Amino acid sequence: MDPYKMVISCTNQKGGCAKTTTAVNLATALAEGDPSRGIEPSKVLLVDLDPQGSASTSFGINKSKLNRTVYDLLMNDLGEELPIIKDYLIAPEIITDSMRETWKQANDGKKLTKARKKSLKVENLWLLPSNIQLSGAEIELATRIGRETRLKEGLASAINEFDYIIIDTPPSLGLLTINALAASNWVMIPVQTEWYALEGMSQLINSIKLVQMRINPNLKLFGIALTMFQKNNKLSKIVSEEVRGSAFHKQVFSTMIPRNTNIAEAPMEGAPVVLLKKGTRHNKGSQAYWSLAKEVSDRVKKMRHKYGIYEKNHLKMHKLNQSNEDDDFSEQLE
Ligand SMILES: Nc1ncnc2c1ncn2[C@@H]1O[C@H](COP(=O)(O)OP(=O)(O)OP(=O)(O)O)[C@@H](O)[C@H]1O
Ligand SMILES: [Mg+2]
Repeated sequence: MDPYKMVISCTNQKGGCAKTTTAVNLATALAEGDPSRGIEPSKVLLVDLDPQGSASTSFGINKSKLNRTVYDLLMNDLGEELPIIKDYLIAPEIITDSMRETWKQANDGKKLTKARKKSLKVENLWLLPSNIQLSGAEIELATRIGRETRLKEGLASAINEFDYIIIDTPPSLGLLTINALAASNWVMIPVQTEWYALEGMSQLINSIKLVQMRINPNLKLFGIALTMFQKNNKLSKIVSEEVRGSAFHKQVFSTMIPRNTNIAEAPMEGAPVVLLKKGTRHNKGSQAYWSLAKEVSDRVKKMRHKYGIYEKNHLKMHKLNQSNEDDDFSEQLE
């Protein structure tokens, strides 16, 4: 695997520290892009690797109606390269329909205004969904060959198609998380600014080191995002200062995600806060995740520049191919 492909696992074995919220909002903001902030739109795949399926629910996806999920990808024993995009992924148009429908239901059947329709739309985001079926995977995988690298194999054909693959992991260091770490080259750790936040960090870092040593030498720490920060809360300040003073201080993003009602309520409305409140410049929750996306995109640009990687944005290539197809079509018409 090319070490500079952006496959990022959003991981922390601690429950409820905003892994899903961070993965979902980052994936969406990077896919959407924002020229006013200097974030160019990218082709993004969000992988829901949690049996809770919260990343899928964040877009209002009805998990009981899914034909294929990440579970089927992990359990596929054929060993051949899988046509992942066509067979397993939920396309941007379906995500868009699902967000709009869920928003209507959450707002008593209210009609979508033109502006609302425009904001509840994704064009460059694909989702590999999950549901409760995945909860059996850890036990089922235990006796399978290649149990730790099944996701890596499953995603192999998608890696060259996307600018970013972002994986949301469950709150454990079990086989599912190991699969995510084996498939990734970067780890993003959301840390909730509360007292026990740092307690599990050394265990998490040890697991990352073990995966680096045994399975995936390309794995590196991409960044630490401080979440649910409360400005007037002493504890919040102490913990954030402690993380910033730790051995990983260089990797901590400057953006602090505040504790914010709009972020908490967004899944109920079936869309990430970065879309729901995109136009609202003063919305603190949305602004914070946009600012984190900007830092992520800048960090990637800087890194690529340092290593002399100037590959074309996949989205541009995608559009280029599409326009070529259109050309062929017009030629056929002539
Ligand atoms: N900045 C925030 N402000 C307020 N609520 C938040 C914020 N970030 C996340 N939440 C809420 O906190 C809860 C936990 O967040 P989330 O599901 O993203 O965490 P998680 O780490 O993925 O949890 P799990 O370990 O169960 O997978 C959710 O109800 C979410 O809506
Ligand atoms: Mg989660």
